[in-house]
Amino acid sequence: MLLFIFQSFCLLVYSTHIFMPLNKTPPNSRAGIASVYIPSRLSIVIFGGYSDTLFFNDLWNFNITTLIWDEIYTNSESIPSPRAFYGAFSSFVTENLYVYGGKNPEIIKNDLWEFDFHSLRWTLIPTINTPSASLGFTYTYYIRNFIEYFAIFGDENTEIIEIYIYILNLSTFEWEKQIDKNDYFIYSAYGSMIYYKECFYLTCGIAYDTLILETFKYCLDEQIWIYITRFILLILMKKIIIECFIKDLFIKSFIIYSQDHIHRISLY
Ligand SMILES: *[C@@H]1O[C@H](CO)[C@@H](O)[C@H](O)[C@H]1NC(C)=O
Ligand SMILES: *[C@@H]1O[C@H](CO)[C@@H](O)[C@H](O)[C@H]1NC(C)=O
Repeated sequence: MLLFIFQSFCLLVYSTHIFMPLNKTPPNSRAGIASVYIPSRLSIVIFGGYSDTLFFNDLWNFNITTLIWDEIYTNSESIPSPRAFYGAFSSFVTENLYVYGGKNPEIIKNDLWEFDFHSLRWTLIPTINTPSASLGFTYTYYIRNFIEYFAIFGDENTEIIEIYIYILNLSTFEWEKQIDKNDYFIYSAYGSMIYYKECFYLTCGIAYDTLILETFKYCLDEQIWIYITRFILLILMKKIIIECFIKDLFIKSFIIYSQDHIHRISLY
């Protein structure tokens, strides 16, 4: 009798749980990735990343309707090298996937790759006035006057004395450095940035082992950085990475990782 109850209970538990993905073959666990939503595929695509000492350059598709992971195999001879902490976005117009920069144990990169889901091919895109490679940059993709742009900001290397926003014009593949008219420089790595009505909003990240909870704004017409908030949380722990989730100019929540803790702080 007891056994029967136990078995029924197991059956009940089993039948109310769904595995995600259904076929139980996700990519192996990894960090330092970007996930990009591709609307016409009803899918989220991830590329590369790392796990301990292993760096990857494989491409995976997670179908949000079927909840199934599939590896996307390419027809290309040349593909981006294994890397983590790169920038990635999908073009609103073509839905091609772009991967910029990132690092692996040998090198920090500043190359731009394009993946076409129809031909299944990677193409290395030459760019003009390319900024030097940086690690821990934040990035955003946006459309302004019907032209697509990709902007990056920040570097983990605190010995660099001047850090700028660099904007890549996706019509010409030419980068442009955005000066600060007041020569005021902000340091940030692993932050978050969005573009909204001609301005960039930058928040969170780390600088000199300090967690940044400030928010700054840089507008294309004024060309100066200004503070919006000014709170600094001093946490004297090494190796802190903060991830902010920004939606509609509100930071919804953030997660702080340190060696032994994960704190998730919800702001509303
Ligand atoms: C995802 O699943 C939906 C529903 O089955 C299908 O229509 C769509 O083509 C799939 N996307 C990909 C990329 O396989
Ligand atoms: C980007 O390139 C296009 C095409 O040449 C040009 O019309 C546009 O003005 C450029 N954008 C900026 C901000 O210079």
